[in-house]
Amino acid sequence: MTTALITGATAGIGAAFARRLAAQGHNLVLVARDTARLREQATELHDRHGIEAEVLSADLSTDGGIEAVEKRLTDARHPVDLLVNNAGFGNKGRFLEVSMADELTMLKVHCEAVLRLTSAAVTGMEERGRGGVVNVASVAAFVPRGTYGASKSWVVQFTQGAARDLAGSGVRLMVLCPGFVRTEFHERAGMGTDNIPGWMWLDADKLVASALADLARGKTVSIPDPRYKALMGLVKVAPRGLLGGVTSRTGRKYGPR
Ligand SMILES: NC(=O)c1ccc[n+]([C@@H]2O[C@H](COP(=O)([O-])OP(=O)(O)OC[C@H]3O[C@@H](n4cnc5c(N)ncnc54)[C@H](OP(=O)(O)O)[C@@H]3O)[C@@H](O)[C@H]2O)c1
Repeated sequence: MTTALITGATAGIGAAFARRLAAQGHNLVLVARDTARLREQATELHDRHGIEAEVLSADLSTDGGIEAVEKRLTDARHPVDLLVNNAGFGNKGRFLEVSMADELTMLKVHCEAVLRLTSAAVTGMEERGRGGVVNVASVAAFVPRGTYGASKSWVVQFTQGAARDLAGSGVRLMVLCPGFVRTEFHERAGMGTDNIPGWMWLDADKLVASALADLARGKTVSIPDPRYKALMGLVKVAPRGLLGGVTSRTGRKYGPR
């Protein structure tokens, strides 16, 4: 039986990964900050699917939290076969409206934690000659969309580069780029969603099913929905100025300014 470690496993896309991988018979290591919620989820997945689900409470915006997950990923007695770097969040507001502390926390969770956890996991995977990493970015990585999009661009570039470096090693790296997904993300960030058209919303379970199929096919970049594949095709040819005007408004509720 293989083991998957998922960060941000308690809600939204991470919880959908946990449900899907448990249903496929993988043991799980569930990582997030809310210990009670993690325990409840672990019990439910164990009871429903008969898998082992470990709980690892860690705040990935802290060095201690990242170190705790690195330690689990490098435990050679209990190898992790699939790492899903999914934990993330949004900050409400334009550049300069968000405090520097919040901006740096985002970089820690979206970039530093992803770099360190991928490195910790891949070291053992390379030695064993097999394994996989899914880094959750966003289609915001491909458009001018504030510091959030910039952090997700880093995730895309990092994953593509590392995947290339590890080609032939038996270790697969894939970056998942979702569009808008119905999760707790926007509510947690205090962002309004009234201006996001209904057709743009994706279902987390369907998204994860497509992502895992893309991983099995050996894709390095996964944009799971035909609507977003078409949109990203347009993005490649649209003028950057026009894109900035449209994408910086959609799904972000600004404060006064
Ligand atoms: N929803 C969308 O429209 C959308 C679109 C594109 C990409 N994404 C990306 O998808 C990923 C998952 O987002 P989601 O929509 O599923 O959000 P969500 O429903 O708000 O879930 C976020 C998860 O991350 C965990 N988390 C947040 N901060 C953490 C920290 N400092 N340390 C450890 N865990 C932390 C949360 O658990 P705790 O609070 O218990 O720690 C929760 O399990 C994120 O990387 C996000 O940027 C989302």
